[in-house]
Amino acid sequence: MGAEKHVYADLEMLSSAVAAEIVAAAQKSIAARGQFTLVLSGGSTPRRLYQILAGAPAIAILWSQIQIFGGDERCVPVGDPQSNYSMAHQNLLAHIAIPPHNIHRIPADIDPPELAASAYEYLLRAGGASWKIEPTGPSFDLVLLGMGADGHTASLFPNSPALAEKERWTLPLLAPPVHDARQRITLTFPVINRSRQIFFLVSGTDKREPVQSIFADPASARDGYPAARVQAAWDSTQQRIAWFLDQAAAG
Ligand code: 6PG
Repeated sequence: MGAEKHVYADLEMLSSAVAAEIVAAAQKSIAARGQFTLVLSGGSTPRRLYQILAGAPAIAILWSQIQIFGGDERCVPVGDPQSNYSMAHQNLLAHIAIPPHNIHRIPADIDPPELAASAYEYLLRAGGASWKIEPTGPSFDLVLLGMGADGHTASLFPNSPALAEKERWTLPLLAPPVHDARQRITLTFPVINRSRQIFFLVSGTDKREPVQSIFADPASARDGYPAARVQAAWDSTQQRIAWFLDQAAAG
């Protein structure tokens, strides 16, 4: 089944729609499997979504059964303005009744970065008392992703050796020089692409070109835009990939 495209007038409408989708996914997952493993994306686009989720009554009662993970992180101290975790904490995690042991922060402040990536991978593969990420078949219940104007997603950038990773679930890598916080830890396609659901949240005219290229010809877009490499790797009839775009990004 191909990727869905949902277009909204603006970021506010996009964020409200995705919040409703996340609540529905959480309710269904918890009813079916007693858990909901949710990977948060970084950057700025999801900020409003996180604020809406923080105040959403329907999910408020579910947080104790929801496990939160990071999709990628900059190797900066917690609290640094560049930290994806800090953005999620300020706009969501600090405002919800979620048990602290349900929040699985990427330990990107551990040095060296290879140790940070290995520690996170160990956690994901080990699981916890009330959650598990399967080594084959479905991995996370829902992964949120953004996309840069260069078509990167998580911290998987064009021409990176990380794009070819087939085994590891996390990697340390350097973002291109244009980025301030270059040292990163990121989930990789082997674990992202097995998720039951994957939502892209994309806003702004600077994303229009990669969005249009990916939807016009996903196969050829793979070379230039890593986001085009997000595809069903478990069972395309049971996995859902949905793009939530504002009009500026959709064109
Ligand atoms: C990061 C993000 C990255 C982000 C895109 C879009 O750490 O930068 O995970 O993949 O989602 O760069 O960022 P904006 O939402 O700020 O445009």
